[in-house]
Formats: sequence, C-alpha cells, structure tokens
Amino acid sequence: MIDKNVVLEGETVILRECRENDCNTIYLSWLNDPNVNKYLETRWTEQTLEKIISFVSEIHKSDHSILFAIIYCDNNTHIGNIKLGPIHPHYNYADVSYFIGDCNYWGKGIATEAIKLVKDYAFDVLGLHRVQAGLFEENVGSKKALEKAGFILEGRQRKQLRINENDKWQDNLIFGAVK
Ligand SMILES: CC(C)(COP(=O)(O)OP(=O)(O)OC[C@H]1O[C@@H](n2cnc3c(N)ncnc32)[C@H](O)[C@@H]1OP(=O)(O)O)[C@@H](O)C(=O)NCCC(=O)NCCS
Repeated sequence: MIDKNVVLEGETVILRECRENDCNTIYLSWLNDPNVNKYLETRWTEQTLEKIISFVSEIHKSDHSILFAIIYCDNNTHIGNIKLGPIHPHYNYADVSYFIGDCNYWGKGIATEAIKLVKDYAFDVLGLHRVQAGLFEENVGSKKALEKAGFILEGRQRKQLRINENDKWQDNLIFGAVK
C-alpha cells in the first residue's frame, strides 16, 4: 500500500498528495492552456472541473499510483503535478509523468527537482527498481529534466505520436532510471 500522507521535501518544492480541494479553476486553466497541454494526453478532450476531480479521486483510491501536487516552497503555491504509477504488480516498475502548470515557474529546475524526488521515493520507500517516462521527441525541456534527474534514453518508438491530426508524426522517446 502507498501511504498517501507522504510528503517529499526538496530545496524549492515539496510534493504532497494532490487532493480534491486542489481542483480549482487555476488547475483547470493549466490543462486547457495550449502551451501546457501540448504534450499531455488530456489535450484530446476539453477538461472540466468534474473531470479533474474524478481523476484526482480515482488516483487517491488506487493502491498502485500516487499523484503529487508540486508546491513551491517560497509562497506555498500549487504550481503543477507529478504522478508515479501505475506500479506494475509483478515487475515493480512505474511510469512517471508531470507538468508545471504555471509557466512563470518554467526553467527554474523545478521539474528536475520533482522528478528526482519521485525517483528517490520510488526506489528508497516503495522499493521499485525502475522508473520510466515517455515523451515527444521535440519536448526538449522534459528530455533535459529527465537527463538531469538521472534518466537515460533507452529507446524510441518511431513515429508513434503527433500533437494533432494535422501534425507530423514524432518519435516517442523512452527514458528510464534503474536503482
Ligand atoms: C517540460 C517541463 C516539465 C519542464 O519543466 P521545467 O521545470 O521548466 O524544467 P527544468 O527547469 O527542470 O529544466 C531542465 C532543463 O531543460 C531546460 N528547458 C526547460 N524548458 C525548455 C524548453 N522549452 N526548451 C529548451 N530547454 C528547456 C532548462 O533550461 C533546463 O536546462 P539547463 O539546466 O541546461 O538550463 C515544463 O516545461 C512543462 O510542464 N511543460 C508542459 C507539460 C509537459 O511537457 N510535461 C512533460 C510531458 S513528458
């Protein structure tokens, strides 16, 4: 079982579970912002508060995933989310996915710090041996954050993804970190 009361403390952010009362119009605006959602699967459908609340509460109930709110320490503000899961029931690995919703916080090393915190938590507390992420080949910020957090490019699924029906196909880059 994952202890959903866990708090991961970094230098500039803390991570604690994202809860229903974090689901507000600001969180909603992040997911409907084309700059933020460009590489997120949520972009395919218009997001609503009801959808966000349902997503957050489903993960809260799950024993194989945890959704963290990224809280900027200086002003105690929720600026994005990072999810670990689902944890594979037999192979003890999990996916990590994330976004910094407030673009004012981009380029400050926050994704790198959050990914590192979650990776260490996965290995040291949950006993996982592998964490992985997939991303659009053109998503340079995400790629650099993963590399700086200790992930390695392990492979690419050629021409697997596209931003929308009219866009060119892009490779899905697979990054992984092993304990
Ligand atoms: C991608 C994202 C998570 C990066 O978050 P971030 O907090 O800005 O990342 P960091 O500050 O830790 O950046 C890591 C490195 O990438 C660089 N970087 C960040 N965004 C970049 C961009 N758009 N283009 C080029 N480099 C970028 C940073 O400068 C830093 O490099 P440096 O240390 O050499 O200066 C954030 O831009 C975001 O949430 N985007 C929208 C959602 C998304 O793409 N999520 C990931 C899906 S896989």
